[in-house]
Amino acid sequence: MIDNSQITETYFADDRVDGVDKVTGKATFAAEHQLANMVYAVFVCSTIAKGSIKNMLLSDAKRAAGVLDIIYYGNCPAVPGYNPFAKDPNKKGYEWRGLKVLNTNQVFSNGQPIAMVIADTMERAVYAASLVKAEYIKEEGDTDFENAKTDDKKLKKPAEYKRGDADAYKKGEVSLEEEYTIPIETHNPMELHATIAVWDGDDKLTVYDKSQGPKGTQRDLAQCFGLDEKNVRVVVEYVGGAFGSGLRSWPHVPAACIAAKKLKRPVKLIVTREQMFTTVGYRPHAWQKIGMSADKSGKLTGITHQAVSITSRYEDFGEGIVNPSQFMYNCPNVNTSYRLLPMDVNTPTWMRGPGPATGCFALESALDELSYKLNIDPIELRLINHADVNPVNKLPWTTKFLKECYAMGKEKIGWQNRPTVPGSLTENGMLVGYGMAGGVFGAGRGQATAKGILNSNGTLVLQSAVSDMGPGTSTAMVTMGAAFMQLPANKVSFELGDTDFPTGPTQGGSGTTSAIGTAINAVCEALKQTLKEMAIANVPAFAGLKPEALKYDKGIISVAENAAVNISYTDLLKAANKPGIEVIKESGRASAEAQKYAMNSFSVHFVKLHVHPVTGVIKLKQIVSAADAGKIISENTARSQMVGGAVGGIGMALTEEVFTDNRYGRYSNANLADYHVPVNADAPPMDILFVNKADNIISPTGAKGVGEIALVGVAPAIANAVYNATGKRIRQLPITPDKLI
Ligand code: MOS
Repeated sequence: MIDNSQITETYFADDRVDGVDKVTGKATFAAEHQLANMVYAVFVCSTIAKGSIKNMLLSDAKRAAGVLDIIYYGNCPAVPGYNPFAKDPNKKGYEWRGLKVLNTNQVFSNGQPIAMVIADTMERAVYAASLVKAEYIKEEGDTDFENAKTDDKKLKKPAEYKRGDADAYKKGEVSLEEEYTIPIETHNPMELHATIAVWDGDDKLTVYDKSQGPKGTQRDLAQCFGLDEKNVRVVVEYVGGAFGSGLRSWPHVPAACIAAKKLKRPVKLIVTREQMFTTVGYRPHAWQKIGMSADKSGKLTGITHQAVSITSRYEDFGEGIVNPSQFMYNCPNVNTSYRLLPMDVNTPTWMRGPGPATGCFALESALDELSYKLNIDPIELRLINHADVNPVNKLPWTTKFLKECYAMGKEKIGWQNRPTVPGSLTENGMLVGYGMAGGVFGAGRGQATAKGILNSNGTLVLQSAVSDMGPGTSTAMVTMGAAFMQLPANKVSFELGDTDFPTGPTQGGSGTTSAIGTAINAVCEALKQTLKEMAIANVPAFAGLKPEALKYDKGIISVAENAAVNISYTDLLKAANKPGIEVIKESGRASAEAQKYAMNSFSVHFVKLHVHPVTGVIKLKQIVSAADAGKIISENTARSQMVGGAVGGIGMALTEEVFTDNRYGRYSNANLADYHVPVNADAPPMDILFVNKADNIISPTGAKGVGEIALVGVAPAIANAVYNATGKRIRQLPITPDKLI
């Protein structure tokens, strides 16, 4: 294991290694690849929520200029994974999960792709797609979540947890029982989802795709089309944001492959902005009810947390909404229940902080409410109930510096200025509020493989088949490679985004840095060992020594006892007549450690805001996010991730909401003019504070994870500040001005 202190040595300013390429347009995103003979596919989507298609009206579209084909259920070629029961007996197990796009006349949601128009230009395909109409046999759809959320007949069997007494809060000295709702939120990254598919014969497929996991997409497509994985190549050089929408392959991915196969030409399919709302997932609409009690000293005596979230009719998507309530605080009596409500909607999916982002809105709001009832400062209330060991499994945490986060953030925001009586402080005629809330997410270490190529020209090339949706994975890997090999960072590069590289994880769950970083650590250790053995075999001065007697320091191999006997690794490679050396190393999961420890990253977010007393308009004044994310590998990119997460939290708290017109089961604001994501003017000055203490149990990189805790807890911190400013408790996000006046 490498001495973690090596990472603290900075060999360069940690600017994004791909920053210049991104801002100058040199970086090529999925839809930007231009291939010879390429044609363009555009989806046509359903306009009803439930029913079936009686007839497709294609004649107008077929006559439109440049149209090459229109693929729908009536003429879609067979897709092996769509019908696993009819699969080739020699190729077992192929199965596509999710919507079997273009292969059924059933309609499961409004906005479901029902046909695909292929034309010689993108514009002609878009126009022709507008001419395709369907005749439906309409059925009564049900998308009214509010109406059905507590209807037992419609809900799936609950996942339940209990320790101590159930519903103990009902007998508590000081207690509350409240309901919290979050609407559908969409990822809507700047880059639209897109796939380019190219077939080489019948069984070799190359795909350029916007994906958080090239290997995952490769597996999905091999399963879908009955191919050997090695015959599917997926390229994802750059990703323009994803937030979870790229964690799985959505219908447009096989659709592009179907079209390319049928037309025997490369096909590009770009999901339109409107289709981004109906085909690539979203954070599920969720209803929660929390019962909570404490004794007069503030010690929690009961937490009951129920949650219901929406899913589609054709897939169950659930997430850990109630989990933080089980382990975040010490409480002897906790019971939780989580149920899914299938409705006539498209399938939701993971979105930044999946589970805890929703759950902590309720939990951290409820704790704030309880603090006012108890007349105890909300930070103090959390300290009183601080969990030293995980209350669910009684395991100690690998590292937990949550108390440090409270202390750092409290000082930075100026918590002493917070009014203890809501609505009692004004500045320039605006009501002033302070709020705080905690965030949490699982930490850990997944499996990863990396390759290292150390060249005699002094460069180190690292490779792994992961993608970088924006957090700065390449920058972090270069930073670690440089530290582990003690080389200047401008000599190190990281290549990613191609299934031809060794298997990397799907980028998600705040796990990329620890997973691939561990593999890179192993690669660098193996490279040093190989260099020592090479010195012994090729350089007379080292002959007969054991590798343990040699030392590697900043690119120089020397005798440990006698530094005067040394050789640079570049000279060594030349002496051995090798252009370079290569190693591939796989690092396993942190599974043994997981038996003995609880593993989490933690954050605490602090907010100062103004509320206009008449209009209810909210102006954020300052956000302070303090994070226990383990060792911070790349400070600039980690800070940017925290800022981006906080901005996502502002959207969740104040602006983001998909409206469903339940008469048609249709999203009525499926565009970026009516679905409001925060812009620069909505973001206040932000201070990002890192505890920056290494977690060497989870991985030799010391990193835990930043991506999710950046957002989890921001929305309740804002809601709590709004209450502090106004005395109005808004339990239904987003907190729009109409809810305050
Ligand atoms: Mo994240 S929701 O793990 O992409």
